[in-house]
Amino acid sequence: MVIAQSDEDLRQAISSTSWYHTLELAPRCNDARLVRYNVVVPAMLSFPTTLAGRRCLDIATFDGFWAFEMERRGATEVIAIDVPHPAQWDWPINSPPAVFEEVSRRRPGLGFEIAHRTLQSEVQRLELSVYDLDPARVGTFDFVYLGSLLLHLRDPVRALEKVRSVCRGDLMVVDAVDLALSMLSPRRPVAELDGRGRPWWWKPNLAGLKRLVEAANFTTTDGPRLLWMPPGPDQVRGALSSGASHGGWPPGRPLHLEGGPPRSPAGAIGGLT
Ligand SMILES: C[S@@+](CC[C@H](N)C(=O)[O-])C[C@H]1O[C@@H](n2cnc3c(N)ncnc32)[C@H](O)[C@@H]1O
Repeated sequence: MVIAQSDEDLRQAISSTSWYHTLELAPRCNDARLVRYNVVVPAMLSFPTTLAGRRCLDIATFDGFWAFEMERRGATEVIAIDVPHPAQWDWPINSPPAVFEEVSRRRPGLGFEIAHRTLQSEVQRLELSVYDLDPARVGTFDFVYLGSLLLHLRDPVRALEKVRSVCRGDLMVVDAVDLALSMLSPRRPVAELDGRGRPWWWKPNLAGLKRLVEAANFTTTDGPRLLWMPPGPDQVRGALSSGASHGGWPPGRPLHLEGGPPRSPAGAIGGLT
């Protein structure tokens, strides 16, 4: 891949890449994005204001927003992991090829590479599945961020057990939750199963999200709480309708295939140890 050298090259590289995150790389660039994380999310979350002296891990980094944020907040070292291609996501066996092709347009790694070079970042990106996290390979971490991944996993508890094996400090989890189930069942952990032709699996209520992480031997020290992930303009432009009933929220909106949860409210759990 050609890495941008001049402002014009940078603009072209940015505009020819499908972005998931909003990143401030150059004025008025990167306006095709899915999640307006940079505008509100760090302020809405209890994301640590400083990570000085801490070794950090960003799981499922995509374009790297959270990894670069960790670095900006003073982390001693940041490792970011992701799988190399959407083919490695947990696809249901009945997934139509058209859905796979549409989702695969937005590949993790391309935006990260541009952002990494532009920000002159020292974040280290590893092509590694969450299921393969192993302290013998990556060491252990003082702070781990796990954002918008559990929804996409067939086996979220196994993934969380792997996260537990490399977490010697705090874990912050932000993931999609089902709002109706959270209201109807505030204490009982329940989840809706999707698995209809796309890599969307379990959408728990808030109590369910808490139970998932506790089943992997974490102790909740803060949260869980609801927050709204603000959608970016690409969510409308990139929308496809699968015709499947997806039980999402808000009801009646088309199915979005960007690989992210922003159409849903998210549950955040901070400070798991
Ligand atoms: C919805 S995006 C979330 C991006 C980012 N974590 C965030 O919070 O904004 C889902 C990400 O999960 C990654 N992913 C999917 N399956 C994975 C796996 N088994 N291990 C690690 N990453 C995975 C995808 O490649 C993609 O980057």
